[in-house]
Amino acid sequence: MNIPLVDLKRQYDSIKEEIDSAMSEVISKSAFVGGPFVESFERSFASFCGVKHCIGVGNGTDALFIALKYLGIGEGDEVIVPANSFIATAEAVTMTGAKVVFVDINPKTYNIDVNKLEDCVKSRYALCSMRSANRLKAIIPVHLYGQPADMDPILSIGKKYDLKVIEDAAQAHGAIYKGRRIGSTGDVACFSFYPGKNLGAYGDGGAIVTDNHELAVKMRMYANHGRIDKYDHELEGVNSRLDGLQGAILGVKLKHLPEWSEKRRRNAYLYNQLLKETDLTPPVEISDVKAVYHLYVVRTRKEWRYKLQDYLRSKGIATGIHYPIALPNLKAYARLKQTENDFPEATQASEEILSLPMFAELKEEEIGYIAQEIRNFQGEGS
Ligand SMILES: Cc1ncc(COP(=O)(O)O)c(C=O)c1O
Repeated sequence: MNIPLVDLKRQYDSIKEEIDSAMSEVISKSAFVGGPFVESFERSFASFCGVKHCIGVGNGTDALFIALKYLGIGEGDEVIVPANSFIATAEAVTMTGAKVVFVDINPKTYNIDVNKLEDCVKSRYALCSMRSANRLKAIIPVHLYGQPADMDPILSIGKKYDLKVIEDAAQAHGAIYKGRRIGSTGDVACFSFYPGKNLGAYGDGGAIVTDNHELAVKMRMYANHGRIDKYDHELEGVNSRLDGLQGAILGVKLKHLPEWSEKRRRNAYLYNQLLKETDLTPPVEISDVKAVYHLYVVRTRKEWRYKLQDYLRSKGIATGIHYPIALPNLKAYARLKQTENDFPEATQASEEILSLPMFAELKEEEIGYIAQEIRNFQGEGS
């Protein structure tokens, strides 16, 4: 068998006619940037997330940057980011001129550790007396791998210390936290539609969703050259727009997303069951959530991880590591002068985690084959 980590071709084959006809409609109407297909997708996605506004932008990184900027984050401010995420979460903070403050993760969920978050916020506030003003302004919880971060404690810390909460939902389209759709719990939420995401475009794309009307108007204006009319610009903005083809493709795919999420969940539970007899630690969902398994991340021993990966590769099974270097340990953040000991959980996880193939169209027999090969690897004495 040959099993990729993610198979976008299988997904396209299952919706080919709908996609092809949506794309040809965009082309025949020359609705290439913005326009009716983008507007229609924005309305559907806002309602899907349970919020009033959705602004389509160029990509998920821009979504985070624009949201932070319009929540008032800038030079001299500080923003908390979990130590385990894709670099874009932290990059967006730096793009505003603010400083990234990393917080370690919970070793079971791989999302931000809410106890360490509160300790970090308290210690920043203690510093306030020595500084002229409080610099800590926001928290970015990331719903990593499609697993909802524990929003209630995060939101209450945000409220208590007057911090904005920006959800990085790039990997969690459609996930549910205590009956609420991910994307509707913070001040603003940001999505990526990078092709491999659970809701992926056929190129780059992103969105910001919020209930705040005033903020939505400003962010939309900024993302489109600061314009209020074609050549009437209230301010200097940027060019970060969702294009018509992506809007139409996403509109088609959004209708299938609930079914795809259910299939991902079904695949995850089958993996959980079949991997019980192995030494791998499967992912855990916190209580009262519906994760959408953007990735299925297991944990093994440091000394086995690459050997297992090589073994599975030799059996035609692709795997990934998300992410092999925890954010604070990247060269990109050497300037913060923090060590691996400052983030023991994120550091250890980065050495032990492995992502197994996960996508809606993954077949039961493929999961069975992967689990069997993992057992064979262990049987060979690892
Ligand atoms: C957690 C997370 N945040 C932000 C982003 C950035 O999204 P984009 O690649 O669309 O800029 C990604 C994309 O991979 C991501 O996984």
